Amino acid sequence: MFLTDEEKRLLDGAEGPGKQKAMEMLYALGLAFGAEKLIPIRRAHVALSGQEGDTYWCELLVQGGAKCAIPPTTNPYWDTDYLTKFFDVTREELDLAERTGDAYRRIGAKLTYHCAPGLSSNVPFFGEHVAFSESSATPYVNSVIGARTNRESSISALAAAVIGKTPYYGYHLDENRYGDLLIKVDADMRDCYDWGILGYCIGRIAGSRNPVIQFKNKQTPRPEDFLYFGAECATSGAVAMYHMVGITPEAPTVEKAFGGRKVPSAEAVITARDLEEEEERLTAETGDINLVMLGCPHYTYDQMLEVERLFAGRKVNPNVAFWILADSHAVELAERSHLRQRLELLGVRMVGNTCIDEPCWKSFEGGLGLTDSPKCAYYRKRRGQPFAIRRLSECIEAAIKGRLD
Ligand code: F3S
Repeated sequence: MFLTDEEKRLLDGAEGPGKQKAMEMLYALGLAFGAEKLIPIRRAHVALSGQEGDTYWCELLVQGGAKCAIPPTTNPYWDTDYLTKFFDVTREELDLAERTGDAYRRIGAKLTYHCAPGLSSNVPFFGEHVAFSESSATPYVNSVIGARTNRESSISALAAAVIGKTPYYGYHLDENRYGDLLIKVDADMRDCYDWGILGYCIGRIAGSRNPVIQFKNKQTPRPEDFLYFGAECATSGAVAMYHMVGITPEAPTVEKAFGGRKVPSAEAVITARDLEEEEERLTAETGDINLVMLGCPHYTYDQMLEVERLFAGRKVNPNVAFWILADSHAVELAERSHLRQRLELLGVRMVGNTCIDEPCWKSFEGGLGLTDSPKCAYYRKRRGQPFAIRRLSECIEAAIKGRLD
């Protein structure tokens, strides 16, 4: 792997152990994946998780004197000021949250605490080389925007932000962006939820390959639909790049999506019945619920408006907590527009800067939770809480009844 004199200097520790560690990380990644060189970037997104391993890495770089050459945006952890009013948390959990914020502040990150950066807080342009972590953000940035990023970890994305460069391999190169398999879809998508279920289905088939999706009928996904689709492709599989023929920018035709190579015959044809079966597999649990959790990935203002519309003035059952997690700008906008106040009167709370996979939600772990996102259910189940998945309208009906039938 070629290194410039300046890069060799950093690797030798000429600018301190923090930058040296970051450079070692990029160099090791480049060697492992056969990169010919590092390329400059102006944008990064770090999937700060608020968990010990990620925080340790950031602290290690900070203690070694590192500062970001380009300020990366960050994923959420949890809003300690707001949520400690509602939930019991331990001193240890608070200490880790404080250490995390402190370390990322000191390294020079832009603390957006938002997990859908490609929608608003960090939007690259077509063809731009970037280093984005967060499994739902990378397919969005690659496929919908046409920018170029590998599936970075929080560790490699932070190293890239410190150096301002990333190894030139994988999805940065044309030949790795073309389609690997063709999937035909003979079903119509009504809302985000359908896109999420389709994504879950396709992720299972594609694994880490690039699926090319061809719809029988014309579809017009919104940004939130793309986001949900990509999030689920990256949950059941490890998809970082997909094409939708006639929809996403690198797939004006099926031939272009495959880079001019022979178009393979369809590996699967997904019908409405297949989506129903996928949904049945994912959503078996029923019974009394203690929590409805929306916003994984973070909800937009428009999605919160949809929640209000579906409640139609009815209220959340007193035995249920109803939380929407959102971009803090969307929360602020909701406050200014009095949407937040109107939703609170119905029993719906919203919080910015927060992820579903954080210790602040542990008080619900004894009961059944409900969400519209398979990704949310996947992570909550890993923490030991049973979770059901339903369309948003059904989540709201269950929240009013206090029960999922
Ligand atoms: Fe966002 Fe956390 Fe879900 S980072 S996508 S709310 S797992």
